[in-house]
Amino acid sequence: MSYTLHQLRVFEAVARAGSITRAAEHMHMTQPAVSIQLKQLQEHFDIPLTEVVGRKLYLTQAGDELFAHIQRISSTIQEMEESLDELRGTIRGNLHFTVVSTGTYFMPYFLGAYAQQVPGINVQLQVTNRDQALRQLQDKITDFAVVSISPEDMEVESLPIMKNPLVLVTSPLTGQATGIDAGKWSESSTSIPFRALKDYPFILREQGSGTRLVLLDLFKKHKIDPKIPFELGTNEAIKQAIKAGLGISLISSFSLKSEIMNGELEVLPVKGFPMMTQWQMIWLKGRKPSPAARSFLEFMQAQKENITRQHFGWMADTLMKD
Ligand code: PGA
Repeated sequence: MSYTLHQLRVFEAVARAGSITRAAEHMHMTQPAVSIQLKQLQEHFDIPLTEVVGRKLYLTQAGDELFAHIQRISSTIQEMEESLDELRGTIRGNLHFTVVSTGTYFMPYFLGAYAQQVPGINVQLQVTNRDQALRQLQDKITDFAVVSISPEDMEVESLPIMKNPLVLVTSPLTGQATGIDAGKWSESSTSIPFRALKDYPFILREQGSGTRLVLLDLFKKHKIDPKIPFELGTNEAIKQAIKAGLGISLISSFSLKSEIMNGELEVLPVKGFPMMTQWQMIWLKGRKPSPAARSFLEFMQAQKENITRQHFGWMADTLMKD
C-alpha cells in the first residue's frame, strides 16, 4: 500500500500545529485517528519524520524536508482546483481578510456586498491590531489586511479605501474627573492647542496598535509626557474607560457614531483635528493572488466609492477627499 494524500495532509497539519491534539482539532479528527495516519505514513520511510522532546513534538530533518514538499504539493493542488473552477466560470474558495479593530465598523459593508455578488466565496474575517495584521500578511495566512498606517519594512501593494478621521475623545465623567469640559471649549469656539492637554490622563492602546503609534508620535511632536494610567487592548475597552472617566484618548470617528449621538462621548475641539490617516487594503507584493482575492480586488476597485456613499453618506465627502 502506498501513502495517501490524506496522510500527507494530516502530516502537514501536525507540522503546522506542532501538536497532534491541535492538528486533530484543525482536521476535525480524533487524536488517535491522527496518530494512526501519522504512523502509517511513517512506515513508508525508514528514517524518523518526527521526534518528541519533553512533551513537545518536533520535525526531524527528514520531516522538515517532507513538510517542504507537501507544502508545494498542497499549493499545486489548490492552483489546479482554482484553474478548473475558472474554466467552469465559477469562483469559489476562501477569501482570508484581516482588519484592525476599527475595520469592523466599515469592512463588513464591502465584504457583504461582495458576498452577495459572488456567492461561492467563503469570507474569513480576522480582527486584530496593526502588528498582528502585518504578520498575518507576511506569513501568507491572509490575502489582504486593512490598516490605516502603511508598513515601513514590508513590500506591499495597496488600494486606498477611504480616509480615517481620528479625534480626541472625552466624556461627561472624564470631564468631571479631569476638568476637560468639551462643551465649554466648543461653546467658546476655541480650538484647544494639543499642548494644553499635557496635564491630563491619556488612555493608550496596547503595544502593536497603530493608533498607539499615532498618539505616541503626537506626544513626541508636541514635546509632552502625559500621565498614562491605562493601556487597553481594544477600541471598545478604550471607549468604556473614557465613559468611566478614566482619561482621554485618540479614536477613529468610525467607532464613535452611536456614543456621540447619545452623548456618552464627546469630541474635543483640538487644533489640527480630526487628524486624517488613510484606510487601505494591502497585500504582499509579488504574491500570486487566488481567484477569490483577484475577484475581490476587482470588486473593490469598481465599487468602493458607491459603497462608501451608500453606507457612510454622513461623512462620505470627507472620507473620499484627496
Ligand atoms: P489599531 O489600528 O490601532 O487597531 O492597530 C491601526 C490602524 O489604523 O492601522
